[in-house]
Amino acid sequence: MKYYLGIDIGTTGCKALVVDEAGNLVAGGVAEYPLYTPRPNWAEQDPADWWEGTRVALGKVLSAPGVDGENIAGIGLTGQMHGSVFLDGKNEVLRRAILWCDQRTHLECRQITEMVGYERIMKINCNPVLPGFQAPKIQWVKNNEHAVYERIARVLLPKDYIRYLLTGELATDVSDASGTSLFDVPRRQWSEEIISTLGYKMEWFGRCYESPEITGSVRAEVAHTLGLPPGIPVVAGGGDNAAGAIGTGIVNPGLVSASLGTSGVVFAFSEKVRIDMQGRVHTFCHAVPGKWHVMGVMLSAGGSLRWFRDVLGMEEKNVATLLEKDAYEVLTEEAALVPPGCEGLVFLPYLTGERTPNADPHARGVFFGLTLKHRKNEMARSVMEGVTFGMRDSFEIIREMGIPVGEVRAIGGGAKSPLWRNIQADIYQVPLLTVRIDEGPAFGAALLAAVGTGAFPGVEEACRRAVRTTDQVRPHPTNVEKYETYYRLYRDLYPVLKNFYSRVGEIDK
Ligand code: XUL
Repeated sequence: MKYYLGIDIGTTGCKALVVDEAGNLVAGGVAEYPLYTPRPNWAEQDPADWWEGTRVALGKVLSAPGVDGENIAGIGLTGQMHGSVFLDGKNEVLRRAILWCDQRTHLECRQITEMVGYERIMKINCNPVLPGFQAPKIQWVKNNEHAVYERIARVLLPKDYIRYLLTGELATDVSDASGTSLFDVPRRQWSEEIISTLGYKMEWFGRCYESPEITGSVRAEVAHTLGLPPGIPVVAGGGDNAAGAIGTGIVNPGLVSASLGTSGVVFAFSEKVRIDMQGRVHTFCHAVPGKWHVMGVMLSAGGSLRWFRDVLGMEEKNVATLLEKDAYEVLTEEAALVPPGCEGLVFLPYLTGERTPNADPHARGVFFGLTLKHRKNEMARSVMEGVTFGMRDSFEIIREMGIPVGEVRAIGGGAKSPLWRNIQADIYQVPLLTVRIDEGPAFGAALLAAVGTGAFPGVEEACRRAVRTTDQVRPHPTNVEKYETYYRLYRDLYPVLKNFYSRVGEIDK
């Protein structure tokens, strides 16, 4: 029996997953690593921690019953998008990587847009330059750490640094490269025009492949430490959202996924390049060769509930330990006792600024409508509802662009909660399906490895064989009506507060 390994360099940790030739899940292992926030709204990680995380997660998965490294026929890589790993001429890491959720670069976004021109950027990259993307991070290093900038010889995306250590190759894939602001999305290649206008060098960026293509193989020097035989082919893989979409089967028109992880992502398949000229949603290459996708990204989705649990959920954590449950389970059971709308409490989930639909690094979280009557239950539920209203914004834009929304599949941590699934169906106003294997991007990466090494004739066929949908949650008419009223209120709050966000940020700078 042949096995395929998916490795996901996530924001909270590394996940390694093994699937068999039919796409069945065989084993998984995770290893966490730290996230550094040296200043509010900054987010960094040490690439050495990703490598150590990969080693530990691989150790776990390879020691699972029935798994033998000798049977691994292919490896697929995926990971958090947009992060920048800066390497010198000896391929040594120059500073900590700056991550997708870091918001320090709003001035650099403006600078790049002025240098290249908004229309050229939209035509070539199909997306406005946003603080999370890679190019503004390079520009920030140029403006603020010039000595580091002078030594840059390579700039890699997170999963591609792991590829480099695994295989010695400097390469990436079209879906992840799309989120750099340096990539020609319609032509699926690096944009020489943007890269040279900014004064960067083409050789800084790895060779770009379609996601199932083989980019190299495991080096003998690292194989032994990882418990793998040398020579296993490593495919290009994809950014976490594109790879996640493969694992969820979003490979045909009409299919859309709604993912609630740290970030919240509404991901729609597209046969053609379609652009929102207001730049509210992203247009990137898909991990399906020759196809694209459109996605709306919220920066603090599950991240908002995690914040709530960590800051206000001590009691629930203790109860959960006593009952041998998860703290989220206790929190959401309490939230389920509250009526939709939380009796007039609305949460704006902009805890780390926002991308879709209001790209604003200064935006902040808000509880609107608090009264003496409100308790923690209502606050917890309003966090879940507020995040879901934010996701609804993406559905609105995607529909406005004429992209069909047929079947919606709920994935990520948020899909595990029955309450949050119901809230989603009621607010999106669509029936919501879940998938049999919801293991996130690592599953999609393993399927891409299986395609690239010949187990399936193509990505669509791999998904047809390996992805199964399960329960369906239908919208509840009374809740739909109530939420519609609350959604309109939610949408009206941001424009009113917009100007106050930068003001509050200035006070204690
Ligand atoms: C996508 C994005 C996030 C990260 C999270 O544009 O920024 O979804 O990829 O890992």
